[in-house]
Amino acid sequence: MKPIKEIIRQDIQAMSAYHVSTVPTGCVKLDAMESPYDFPEAMQNQLSNLLSKSPIRLYPHIAIDDFLPQLRDTFAIPQSTAIALGNGSDELIQFITMLVARKNAKVLSIEPTFVMYKHNANLFGMEYIGVPLNQDFTINPKQLLDEIEKNQPDLIFIAYPNNPTGTRYSHEDVEKIIQAATGLVVIDEAYGAFSSDSFLPQAGSCEHLLVLRTFSKIGFAGLRIGYVSGSASVINELNKILPPYNMNQLSLTAAKYALKHIDWINDNITRLKMEREIMFSALEDIESITVFPSEGNFLTIRVPDAKACFDELLRQGFLVKNLHGNHQLLENCLRITIGKQQDNSIIIQILQKMYR
Ligand SMILES: Cc1ncc(COP(=O)(O)O)c(C=O)c1O
Repeated sequence: MKPIKEIIRQDIQAMSAYHVSTVPTGCVKLDAMESPYDFPEAMQNQLSNLLSKSPIRLYPHIAIDDFLPQLRDTFAIPQSTAIALGNGSDELIQFITMLVARKNAKVLSIEPTFVMYKHNANLFGMEYIGVPLNQDFTINPKQLLDEIEKNQPDLIFIAYPNNPTGTRYSHEDVEKIIQAATGLVVIDEAYGAFSSDSFLPQAGSCEHLLVLRTFSKIGFAGLRIGYVSGSASVINELNKILPPYNMNQLSLTAAKYALKHIDWINDNITRLKMEREIMFSALEDIESITVFPSEGNFLTIRVPDAKACFDELLRQGFLVKNLHGNHQLLENCLRITIGKQQDNSIIIQILQKMYR
């Protein structure tokens, strides 16, 4: 038998795994844009009851399940739009990439952005073109349109708002990208619930446009539910390659319960958006901190020394994301997920103390 090193692809051996932080005991986890809110006890009990009755001996059958109509109603996804479900939007990013992965195919995105776009392009042997943002994390539409014209990418990913910068580009600029695109365009609205704009109403109206969303950032990262809306001509092809039973009965049961309580979800979103603005104003007042406008459930800040700031926050019980070293535009940047009000105010105090 050949040694494993000769069996497994060299390029995969050269990759590093997606980094998932270990959370020290008692630490508040603010590194991955998870919601800080659990269901209240009465709702937890109702959900336990439903989960115990979930038909786990059967494979899920999405076509006859109530979930898709409920999803469509709750988020006003146009009736003409086709929907595919993924085990997290990560899975959909992977399979959408696979749809166009052939020799010499190209994926284009804006850098820095969500790392999985590039990861999947590499995994499927495609060329990845990362067009840099401006220093202030705004988009350079002219450069983007030039790169699209020059490279004719088969697939474009736009995180709207962007992770890890929080930037929500102008609708008009993104519209120009969609118009100029020669291949598929995925508008990844993982943070769409916290944003003032969305392409969801346009999903399905243009054959090449896909709008990707997730349950992860609105309270249910553990359920692993993502959905993509688009034209039937693309979604039907995607459904051919998605694993037949990629969703599971327990998370579908929990997701259906969650959507019945959309008011509770929306209240949490409103609260987090308010908290984000409070934190933004407080941090903006600290001269040695740059805080970037964000339409996600997180703020990206630049501090004099990201490592020292990360360590101090961790010492005081808060795990955030140190972005320094991920991209040259992210020098000394930290990304802080918006948490509960009391945690956000302690973080503000720590930063005020460090940098005033
Ligand atoms: C822009 C963006 N898209 C997709 C994802 C993946 O989300 P999911 O949990 O649905 O796989 C993330 C997660 O951080 C993200 O930031």
